Amino acid sequence: MSNTTLNTKSTYKLNNGKEIPIAGFGLYLTEPGETATITYNALKVGYRHIDSAAYYQNEQESVDGIAKFLADYPEVKREDIFYTTKLEVSRQGYEQAKLAISESLEKAAKIEYIDLYLIHGPLASKADRLGEWKALQEAVQEGKIKSIGVSNYGVSHLQELLDWEGLTIKPTVNQVELHPFLPRHEFREIAKKNDIYLEAYAPLTTAKKFDDPDVQAVAKKHNYTPAQVLLRWSYDQGFIVLAKTTSIERTRDNFEVLDKVTLDEEDFKTLDKPDAYELTSGWPFDPTTYVDEADK
Ligand SMILES: NC(=O)c1ccc[n+]([C@@H]2O[C@H](COP(=O)([O-])OP(=O)(O)OC[C@H]3O[C@@H](n4cnc5c(N)ncnc54)[C@H](OP(=O)(O)O)[C@@H]3O)[C@@H](O)[C@H]2O)c1
Repeated sequence: MSNTTLNTKSTYKLNNGKEIPIAGFGLYLTEPGETATITYNALKVGYRHIDSAAYYQNEQESVDGIAKFLADYPEVKREDIFYTTKLEVSRQGYEQAKLAISESLEKAAKIEYIDLYLIHGPLASKADRLGEWKALQEAVQEGKIKSIGVSNYGVSHLQELLDWEGLTIKPTVNQVELHPFLPRHEFREIAKKNDIYLEAYAPLTTAKKFDDPDVQAVAKKHNYTPAQVLLRWSYDQGFIVLAKTTSIERTRDNFEVLDKVTLDEEDFKTLDKPDAYELTSGWPFDPTTYVDEADK
């Protein structure tokens, strides 16, 4: 059965005590020229968690959308909104990360701070990955960023960070591709053991599995859409769910899933594929398996 205690306003408490809204709105492949309006509309629909990245080239525009919304709706406070951005994988090591963080902070000036800053991927040497984390820890200590985490980290990348003698702040989340066709049970184990939340990206399989017979069967049974079925499945795994759409209607449909959609035991049996391994997002290979030449 779906966890019926969850609703659109639900948050999880991160390992540093900060609250994160579990319904996240993603901005990958959202055109910079449309991002401010799309972000504004997502907040108007009710989303309180916005996921951008330096790589998406729309950090400034997402901040502009948040700032305009806060100005237009003074009853919503800055602390009610959760803004995430990420360190581009091309910015490797301590020095580059310091610089990149200050650039992201400059772009976030209108909303004063960044709630969550992630290393976008582990595609660097071990030394550079740890250097990047050092820079992130310093940004938290300086009060510029509230929480830090990683993305696309496999079990070995995460273990390397957790074992590092320089670790003073644990990652709060690991943002990875997750859906019934990529359930990644080994990631859940290490996350749970270390009080790290998994954020599900591409929870809609980037629309590639809507015709899957099992997804279709569950959707038809309840008169839901495939998108509703996939999002509800993701929430029920205990993930923080990042869904992306450029359409206001679909923004509303996706946001309302927690209030309108529930799945039963039989549905989970139909959808669950514990051993499946199908990548659907834009990465050309599985970044969680990356090993740098320098570390071979
Ligand atoms: N850390 C990383 O490396 C990484 C990688 C990928 C994604 N992410 C994050 O996760 C977010 C979500 O992942 P994603 O954007 O790759 O994929 P996604 O959310 O799984 O799928 C987005 C696709 O689904 C369509 N869609 C959305 N809602 C729909 C609905 N209700 N009915 C039918 N189609 C629908 C969208 O089209 P329309 O826009 O036309 O609605 C778009 O083509 C990203 O935006 C980003 O913030 C992070």
